[in-house]
Amino acid sequence: MLQDKDRIFKNLYGLHSWRLEAARARGAWDGTKSFIERGHEDVIEAVKASGLRGRGGAGFPTGLKWSFMPTKSDGRPSYLVVNADESEPGTCKDRDIMRHDPQLLIEGAFLASFAMRVHVSYIYIRGEFIREREILQAAIDEAYDAKLIGKNNVNGWDFDLYLHHGAGAYICGEETALLESLEGKKGQPRLKPPFPASVGLYGAPTTVNNVETIAVVPDILRRGAAWFASLGRPSSTGTKLFCLSGHVNTPCNVEEELGIPLRELIDRYGGGVRGGWDNLLAVIPGGSSVPCIPASACDDLPMDFDSLRALKSGLGTAAVIVMDKSTDIIRAIARLSYFYKHESCGQCTPCREGTGWMWRVLERMAKGEAEKGEIDMLLNVSHQVEGHTICGLGDAAAWPVQGLIRHFRHVIEARIAAGATKPIAPSVPVAAE
Ligand SMILES: Cc1cc2nc3c(=O)[nH]c(=O)nc-3n(C[C@H](O)[C@H](O)[C@H](O)COP(=O)(O)O)c2cc1C
Ligand code: SF4
Repeated sequence: MLQDKDRIFKNLYGLHSWRLEAARARGAWDGTKSFIERGHEDVIEAVKASGLRGRGGAGFPTGLKWSFMPTKSDGRPSYLVVNADESEPGTCKDRDIMRHDPQLLIEGAFLASFAMRVHVSYIYIRGEFIREREILQAAIDEAYDAKLIGKNNVNGWDFDLYLHHGAGAYICGEETALLESLEGKKGQPRLKPPFPASVGLYGAPTTVNNVETIAVVPDILRRGAAWFASLGRPSSTGTKLFCLSGHVNTPCNVEEELGIPLRELIDRYGGGVRGGWDNLLAVIPGGSSVPCIPASACDDLPMDFDSLRALKSGLGTAAVIVMDKSTDIIRAIARLSYFYKHESCGQCTPCREGTGWMWRVLERMAKGEAEKGEIDMLLNVSHQVEGHTICGLGDAAAWPVQGLIRHFRHVIEARIAAGATKPIAPSVPVAAE
């Protein structure tokens, strides 16, 4: 269990003020100038040594990502863009950082920018986050007024930070779509390479990082890389914000060490599964796009990148969606399929056609109106979508379907065998489509 002294997000629940003075009393902006004096490389090395991996879903090593940025300018500026789009169903952690502890994010953006020799940074915030944007902007203004950031600031590295509000599209969380949107264009992903580190915002070198990734950087520097690396597990170091939702008694966000057993997470913080542990059906462990895992795999499961990958699932954003035995798992996954179909930007055929196709088949399966052979056909189509698209939304749409078939094929088969027993309302009104 994470000890209070090791907590990074001391105001996660908003019990105290988010204002600069209160944030400073909690430790924000303490010693920042001394990290700048240590030099760019030193900051990158510290983040590498901490073992920090991106908190936006893919878990890419953060220090390594930063080292891809140019060390000498070719005349172009370079940028840090903070991804605050947070739209993955089940995920609601960045929101609490921004509204309750925004100075950690602002200080982190400053330090990360210094590490990468960046003078201008943007935070791209989700369209629906109106109040969060207001607080974050007020916090940025406070940091400017206190001369912590801006030109000739007290910390010794010129730095401007702009907050940009999205219009509410899941796809704008994908880093290249986000950059397009930030430039004022349609938010559609583009093929990589070139990667943003060579051709990013306005054609200039850019790093995109998640809010949580950036917000933990000041503490890594203040308390030391070794401290961060001592928490969690060898390839999943540090603390992590977990979002617990679904059929738990007390849904919540909580900061814990990576590697905490899933059962402990659910029992200690989620108040247990509704109806008790034996009433657990399945868990989606990392936000809606990762494959679900059945209750039988949940007993001793450590919540870290490697353990979940070994189960053919993923830590993703660490948004844990709990489903008890009252869940119609086929309908639940059909509803997620509808989400990905709705959010597809439509550029690539496998995603545009495949997401709708998978959703329609799942809707029929949920009603028992399918042929048994269609299960393998659905699996086959999901594999034709996976890995054959411009961006990861195709994978995100395919994985929940694959998880369903991997673990709950027998439920689909039984539903088909029973035929249309009783009418089940579709997840979303089909006519509306
Ligand atoms: C469809 C799609 C949606 C995404 N949405 C988000 C998001 O809302 N927030 C986020 O941080 N990363 C999101 N990502 C991942 C980003 O593309 C990128 O990998 C991430 O911001 C990198 O930050 P990190 O290295 O700090 O994790 C999304 C990716 C895909 C494919
Ligand atoms: S995978 Fe889907 S969302 Fe991504 S670019 Fe292709 S069509 Fe658009």
